[in-house]
Order: sequence, then C-alpha cells, then structure tokens
Amino acid sequence: MTSSNRVVIFGASGNVGQFVVPALHRAGLEITVVSRTGSKIASSYDFARTATTDYASQSDLVSIIRGHASVVSLLSAGVLELQINIIDAAVEAGATLFIPSEFGHDTTNEDVSRLLPVFGAKAGIVEYLREREKHGLRWTGIITALFFDWGLPRGAFDIDYKAGKATIWDGGDTVFSAANMDDIAASVVTLVTDPSAREHYKNQHIYVSSVQTTQNEILAAAEAITAKKFAVTEFDSAEVYADASPQVLPVLQALQLSKRGLSDYQARGDAGHNRFVINAKKDVRDVLKAVLKDSQL
Ligand SMILES: NC(=O)c1ccc[n+]([C@@H]2O[C@H](COP(=O)([O-])OP(=O)(O)OC[C@H]3O[C@@H](n4cnc5c(N)ncnc54)[C@H](OP(=O)(O)O)[C@@H]3O)[C@@H](O)[C@H]2O)c1
Repeated sequence: MTSSNRVVIFGASGNVGQFVVPALHRAGLEITVVSRTGSKIASSYDFARTATTDYASQSDLVSIIRGHASVVSLLSAGVLELQINIIDAAVEAGATLFIPSEFGHDTTNEDVSRLLPVFGAKAGIVEYLREREKHGLRWTGIITALFFDWGLPRGAFDIDYKAGKATIWDGGDTVFSAANMDDIAASVVTLVTDPSAREHYKNQHIYVSSVQTTQNEILAAAEAITAKKFAVTEFDSAEVYADASPQVLPVLQALQLSKRGLSDYQARGDAGHNRFVINAKKDVRDVLKAVLKDSQL
C-alpha cells in the first residue's frame, strides 16, 4: 500500500542530497535512496533503505517506487532525461508527488530558460509532468537561484575571500534572492510531509529564498568579517550575453548578478509569478561569518 510517510529519492548521494536526505529523516519519513547500478559514490545513510537501478528497466523502477507516496529527484544536471523513466514508473506505481531536479535559476522565466541547454532540459521535464497530472501525479518545482551558503566559498558570487579579491558585476547593486541548503531541504520536507502545503503548491514552481541581497552587500560583509579591504575588478555582464557560446558558470553568475535582475524573486513574486514556500530574509553577514568559519577561509 502507498504510504504518505514513505519517500523515495533518486540521486540522493549528491550535493543536494547530503542536505535533503538527513532533513527528511529528521522529519520522521521512511526513506528509500536509489543509486545507479555501479555507483562509486558510497551512500552513507544508514537509516535509509537502499536500491539500485540502471534507469532503463521500467519494471525495476516501478517496484522500487511502489508503496512510496513521494518521489524526489536530485539527479545531476547532466542526466536529467533519466527522470522521464522515473516519472512513468511513478505514475504506474501510484505515487502522488514528484519533485523534479530543478533547484536553481527560474526556468519559468523565458529570459532565463533560453540561455543554457540545462534549463531547456529542466523545462522539458516539467512539460512531461504537466501531461501526467491527469494520471494523479502532482509535481512541484523548487526554484532557489544559486545556492547561497554552499556557493559562497565556491566562488559562485565572484568573491574570493582567501585572496581578498572581488569581481563586481554591473556595479554590484543588483538585488537578488538566494537560498541556503537548510532552507532548500526544509522546503522539500514541507512538500513531502504537509498535505495542505502539497495541495497549495501543486503543479507549479515555488521559490525558496534565504537572503535578498546584492554583491556589494556580500563584499561589505566580507570586508567587515575579515577586516581586509578587497581588491575589486569591475565587470560588465554584456560580455557574457554577447558571447555566442558562453561557458556555463559565467551564465549562471550573469543570471544571478547582472543588472537584468533575473534572480530578484521578491520582485517576481510581487508581480504575481510563483510563490514563496520559504522567504527567510536571513542576515548576510551572519551567513557569511558561519560559512567562512566552517570552510576555514
Ligand atoms: N543552484 C545552485 O547553485 C546549484 C548547485 C548545484 C546543483 N544544483 C542543481 O541541483 C540538482 C542536483 O544537483 P547536485 O549537484 O546535487 O547533483 P550531483 O551531486 O552532481 O549528482 C547527484 C546524483 O546524481 C546521480 N548521477 C550522477 N551522474 C549520473 C549518471 N550518469 N547516471 C545516473 N545517475 C547519476 C548520482 O547519484 P548515485 O551515484 O547515487 O546514483 C549523484 O550523486 C541539479 O538540478 C542541479 O542543477 C544547483
């Protein structure tokens, strides 16, 4: 029998999974984590059931999913098309909620989705899900922009705390949203555990935001925390938009930092697009201080 307390997670061993899986466990869910056959990434979730799949056998996928009400896909951006088989199996197994591997920029915004093939792939999966709504499978896509606490030490916001250098895009005052990993995990927990939230947010994208900030605010926080003056290089985002075949990272950064303001979800929310499931307005300095301490930067 399908149990609302049971959730099956594909791609659980990755960057997002490391936050989402323990949060679902803490919330009291019965968890099955699914890895590809021969995966070299050891899954150390000793509280979870495990299963493996080659993603090709539909009957295998159906028997893995059967009994779980919720299916969460945290698959890597390079293998998003595997979700088609998972979705078909989820319908056949009688699952009622599918959370696709979105977790990034706002693929509902056409100014965003045409810029990189990965966004087109994510939008294609949502189209596929829309066609399956009539079979009783509901879905919710979680839009986060660049991960904030996870991305800060990895240079996502173009500031190098160790070297004391920053590349400031379009003057640095563009307002944007970004989400911390615990808030992203909490949004998944909410959708999986709370029937009223699941109903409220069904068959649409939702936003998770932990901070509403600017690059200059992050830079000021970095200078205050490290008591250092950073060397600043100015950068014009037009260079990225003019590039006929741009690299992935500069496009992801342009969508976050450029004066086009494509990650200002407060503005999009105010204009009636999508909804916030979490809008936490955390203090940028507090988040950065904790991140620099944890990553010993
Ligand atoms: N907004 C941001 O800043 C940001 C940052 C990172 C990621 N993301 C998004 O978050 C989502 C998850 O990304 P992630 O970084 O967590 O993914 P990841 O760590 O790269 O991979 C997640 C899992 O996908 C599975 N996988 C990888 N290659 C596979 C293959 N060839 N065949 C089958 N399974 C494969 C693996 O699971 P097993 O080995 O267990 O099978 C892996 O642990 C993506 O949609 C990505 O675009 C967003």
